[in-house]
Amino acid sequence: MSTPVTLIGLGPMGQAMVHTLLREGHQVTVWNRTPSRAADVVAAGATLAATPADAVAASKLVILSLTDYQAMYDILGSATEALAGRTVVNLSSDSPERTREGAAWAAGHGARFLTGGVMIPAPMVGTEAAYVYYSGPAEVLEDAREPLAAIGTPRYLGADPGLAQLMYQANLDVFLTSLASLLHATALLESGGVGATSAVPELMRTLAGISEMLSVGGNPGVQIEAGEHPGHLSTVTMMGATADHIVAASDAVGVDSGLPAAVQAYYTWARDHGHGGDNWTRIIDAMRPQGGSGGVAPQA
Ligand SMILES: NC(=O)c1ccc[n+]([C@@H]2O[C@H](COP(=O)([O-])OP(=O)(O)OC[C@H]3O[C@@H](n4cnc5c(N)ncnc54)[C@H](OP(=O)(O)O)[C@@H]3O)[C@@H](O)[C@H]2O)c1
Repeated sequence: MSTPVTLIGLGPMGQAMVHTLLREGHQVTVWNRTPSRAADVVAAGATLAATPADAVAASKLVILSLTDYQAMYDILGSATEALAGRTVVNLSSDSPERTREGAAWAAGHGARFLTGGVMIPAPMVGTEAAYVYYSGPAEVLEDAREPLAAIGTPRYLGADPGLAQLMYQANLDVFLTSLASLLHATALLESGGVGATSAVPELMRTLAGISEMLSVGGNPGVQIEAGEHPGHLSTVTMMGATADHIVAASDAVGVDSGLPAAVQAYYTWARDHGHGGDNWTRIIDAMRPQGGSGGVAPQA
């Protein structure tokens, strides 16, 4: 069914969503702070609204794809009267708390609000692999399911508008830290004369293998949740020694050691608290609120 959809925010992600919605036959109205970014999607069939208020008025379903929630206020702050009776689906990144505030703000202007976290890069929008976390009122997702499913498979988490954002940030925590470690390791290899062209594919073998390595004995989360950290296959002492070696190797060649030093600090805490014989999963206690450490300051 062809549904009128408004999409505000035409970065790479917003543009990919518009192209996907148009391909699925929806009528798409767009608005972007920098109008020139609308050229491609207008050429593909989208309508460029003159103002945010016009964009909101054009469709019952309004999707936001912005850098953060402040951008929502900057754009829709001048169009609040148009929000009553609309469904706003904010697919922008921010903290769960900012997201809850955003949901309350939208409700205060008479809009229904869903939070979303898009779990694929822009070129994969609309593919079979695409999925999007949602939270907020379940019926709002059901009403908008068809156009939203064109972007990616919806994965509904619950009524708390902060929940989808929390899940998104948790996944991006893994993603950003992994990307940073990939680049740190590349810089380390460069110091030994291994160029990035050779280094990156070599390091990707480890990146790609981590999931399988961790799943050998089943879901490691089960033991983490049970507070069990058996060290029969690897220990905090062994892993912590390796963390020490990575910091030393970095320092020796002048590669910034801030990232591995942050990891090292967690192992040092675990060793200092008598957990040297436990599995590496024990370091979560140094991260949890009121965990054993009371917080570990990274040692740069
Ligand atoms: N790109 C990806 O692969 C990817 C993947 C997953 C999730 N995401 C998430 O999707 C969202 C959009 O990503 P993107 O890559 O498209 O981001 P982007 O290139 O940073 O685009 C963000 C959009 O926000 C607008 N914007 C930012 N601040 C604004 C303000 N104060 N007032 C008005 N407009 C403002 C920009 O307008 P201008 O064009 O005028 O600057 C642009 O349309 C982000 O929250 C991101 O975390 C992105």
